Amino acid sequence: MQSYKITRLKPFGIQLEPVNDTNLNVIPMEELKHLFHCEGLVVLRGFDTLATNEDLIAYSEQWGEVSVWPFGKVLELIQHDEPNDHIFDNSYMPLHWDGMYRPQVPECQIFQCVKAPNPGQGGRTTFSNTQRILEQASAEDLALWRRATGVYERKMAFYNSRTIAPIISEHPYKGYPVIRYNEPHFEEKGELINPPHMQFTGIEQHEVMQLHESLRAALYHTNNFYAHEWQNGDIVINDNFSLLHGRESFHSHSARYIRRVQILSNPPFDNPNLESYQ
Ligand SMILES: [Fe+2]
Repeated sequence: MQSYKITRLKPFGIQLEPVNDTNLNVIPMEELKHLFHCEGLVVLRGFDTLATNEDLIAYSEQWGEVSVWPFGKVLELIQHDEPNDHIFDNSYMPLHWDGMYRPQVPECQIFQCVKAPNPGQGGRTTFSNTQRILEQASAEDLALWRRATGVYERKMAFYNSRTIAPIISEHPYKGYPVIRYNEPHFEEKGELINPPHMQFTGIEQHEVMQLHESLRAALYHTNNFYAHEWQNGDIVINDNFSLLHGRESFHSHSARYIRRVQILSNPPFDNPNLESYQ
């Protein structure tokens, strides 16, 4: 008998739950990696909790080399009292890819929910599957996106970087096209502390709005967009090379507490878009 149950998520991804034994190791690592590569997003729900950061690191190291930051291997996503960056606020987080401002781009993230916000308090983590978008995009959208390049600058506690990335790029080793895009701050979604600066080149000025509107329509289309509503103990592993991710806003000082680890590819993927890094 299979030791875990698989549920297909909509519109992409899968969720695995234990049948009897709740030890995470009931899922053979090679099977799990295969599912990750096929599906792009895997949710593990109902398994034994990884109690500490060290437990999460030990689990993550089964996936590959863990990316090391100035603060260590685990980013603790919890609202700060006086945040100086939106990452530590309760605001939404525009869609982006991890590592875009760093020397190496991780292949995947492992998110673990230590404490979920209460139902109705928001804070879903959002994912858009850009491989799917490009398989279905209109010729008109593709023609515009192919010409456009994003120029991004972001200064925050961990770096001061400039990144220049074509909107359409290629998965580092799977060969299919993907979208690399840091969504601009849409004011109707509320305030964003310390947003990145960005401009878009390769297209005419009058096409910039069309670029953002067409990308927004595709990224948030129900065929391509999955928002994960957290439960305590959930683990989400997602493909950072093919998906973009973000966060919905949540009630201020809700219990939301997420840990995040990044796993490098083998060999690690040096960021081809990084122009400057301090
Ligand atoms: Fe991120």
